[in-house]
Amino acid sequence: MDIIAGPASQLLAGRVKEAIEVTEVTEVLESNLLISEFKKFPDGELYTRVVDDIGPEVTIIQSTVTDTDLIALLQLIDACSDASRVNVVIPYMGYARQDKKFKPGEPISARAIARTIKADNVYTINIHDTSILDYFDAKTVDLDATPMIGKYIKNMKFINPLIIAPDDGAIHIAKSASSELGIDYDYLEKTRLSGETVSIQPKNVNVKGRDVIIIDDIISTGGTVAETISLLRKQGAHEVYAACVHPVLSNNAILKLFKAGVKGIIATDTIDKGVSVVSVAPVIASAMALTKRF
Ligand code: R5P
Repeated sequence: MDIIAGPASQLLAGRVKEAIEVTEVTEVLESNLLISEFKKFPDGELYTRVVDDIGPEVTIIQSTVTDTDLIALLQLIDACSDASRVNVVIPYMGYARQDKKFKPGEPISARAIARTIKADNVYTINIHDTSILDYFDAKTVDLDATPMIGKYIKNMKFINPLIIAPDDGAIHIAKSASSELGIDYDYLEKTRLSGETVSIQPKNVNVKGRDVIIIDDIISTGGTVAETISLLRKQGAHEVYAACVHPVLSNNAILKLFKAGVKGIIATDTIDKGVSVVSVAPVIASAMALTKRF
């Protein structure tokens, strides 16, 4: 299998190749990394070329963090038109949060993007909402990286730790990460007390004196997690950490989290940032091996 890395996922693609080599995946899968080049024309358009020969079976790995990343992905897919099987891995899929019309006249951007991706298999990682998978014209699998975050957390030293989701939408992520650790998980519940006041509390657990790891699928502006950190600290949590699968971390998000009192930030390499301490490469490598088997 040839692995082609888009410009946003070069390091991750290299790690996937490594993960294939060091695990039992090697028995079913041989892989090569193909070199591609990406440059801009004077008018700003993207030029993409896969420099090495493209074989019959290809896996393209490219997160679509920016609009240009999406163009690069589409170009790479087109460059592989002669391959007999094309797998596309989109570790972080941009626009996935616009998965419905919130106001009349809006597009379902996630659907618009998904419809442009033509491949045999599409893999996403903790996509914002799995209903988006139905929009792809391909077989789809959403991989779960949260157990990898759980494994990482397991090696850290905490006082009576608790994993908390900032809302019930992220409870499945908190549950999955905590299953590796055998520790408590909970989510924050918003209760309207009156027209003007709401109380936000962990649904079941008292955080006083405990180390808390807030986990969400995406940290973008940092607003959601910063607010959660402040709240938990007011409620007597000891140290508060922030964890996520996709560290979008736009603008001043990191500073916002530190200002709110975060002790540390833990994220995966679906987007390559300084806080990407957990690699999703083994998850992708195992999925590739399964595709090969069946
Ligand atoms: C929302 O549905 C997501 O799960 C995240 O909670 C959200 O994207 C976080 O965004 P921000 O960091 O901008 O608050």
